[in-house]
Amino acid sequence: MCERDDRGRLVLRRHADAVAVAHDPGTFSSRVSAHLQIPNGLDGDAHRDARRLLDPFFAPARLQRLRPGLEDLARALVPELRHPVDAVGELGARYSVRAASLWLGWPAGLEDELLDWVAANRAATRSGDRARTAAVAARFDEIVHALVVARWATGADVTAELMATRTADGRTLHEEEIVSILRNWTGGDLSTLALCVGVVAHGLAVRPALQDALVDAPDEALAAAIDELLRIDDPFVSNRRRATADTQVGECPVRADEVVVLHWPSINRDPEVFGDPDAFAPVHNAAANLVYGTGPHVCPGRPLATLELVVLVRALLRAGRLRLAPGTTPERETPPAGGFGRVDIVLEPV
Ligand code: HEM
Repeated sequence: MCERDDRGRLVLRRHADAVAVAHDPGTFSSRVSAHLQIPNGLDGDAHRDARRLLDPFFAPARLQRLRPGLEDLARALVPELRHPVDAVGELGARYSVRAASLWLGWPAGLEDELLDWVAANRAATRSGDRARTAAVAARFDEIVHALVVARWATGADVTAELMATRTADGRTLHEEEIVSILRNWTGGDLSTLALCVGVVAHGLAVRPALQDALVDAPDEALAAAIDELLRIDDPFVSNRRRATADTQVGECPVRADEVVVLHWPSINRDPEVFGDPDAFAPVHNAAANLVYGTGPHVCPGRPLATLELVVLVRALLRAGRLRLAPGTTPERETPPAGGFGRVDIVLEPV
């Protein structure tokens, strides 16, 4: 069946279709936005060069240096969970803002402004109103622009390092390029990480035996369990591609210039690949799990997101067991946003 959304765009929900499209950037371009999007909106050599420049920021050795600071952040949030807390809007949003600020060297004083922004961004996504989403994106650019200006040749953190980075032809990045990169490193992902915390906290709260099994599990096993919970209920909804020529996806014809939508939550639950999509099988499903995408645009931030989630879950399980707060019912986000809008949880001491 060729499903089209209310804007006439072909929606791809099959795993095989997603893999075919994501691995054919010549036919399915990532230039879908009029805004400068580095690296998300680039194709070909420009995309490859940008990834070469930026991927080292996520190298494992660099991220491990961040770990002690993340552990402090996670531990500091644990006492708040003695009482019911919304795992998305409170725990997840606060942790994702603090973790991103720690990584990028941004001032703690920015926390409330960024939390306001995460809430506004989630509301705008929920509304499906493009003008509202654009206004929220513009507000984020203003926040980042002010940070970049304040740092011009001063700081010694990841933001300053990005500003000192040189391209293959030896120049430093223009300010609008830096703002675009920082937007793609944080703008969407503050909200995404908060939504991921909601899905993972819920997934653990309804699986008490899994929590017991993970307490002393090595990082790799904990990361695999988190990936599998995110596969079952992927809160990162979609990416787009624009066809560069008349083509076809599966049995569906696509005309040149048409936009197709990769619908990750459905792709990650495709029964042809995963059988029962609700069956928790981290080892079996790992290779086909597309929560972080696939192909040349595969998420470069995956190691950072995974480290942040592993550190948080480890801190929570060391302190107790997660339960849904008595008398509350988790609320789903409103499509097109994914995951939960609100999940109240508590941490029962062991
Ligand atoms: C929190 C969980 C996260 C999820 C579920 C997620 C998911 C994804 C997915 C599915 C893609 C593929 C996009 C496509 O095919 O067009 C992607 C790309 C991307 N992600 Fe993530 N991501 C997460 C966290 C992060 C973090 C923490 C960062 C950076 C700090 C990040 C930065 C990016 C960038 C820059 C791209 C574009 C890559 C490119 O176009 O080459 N992501 N992400």
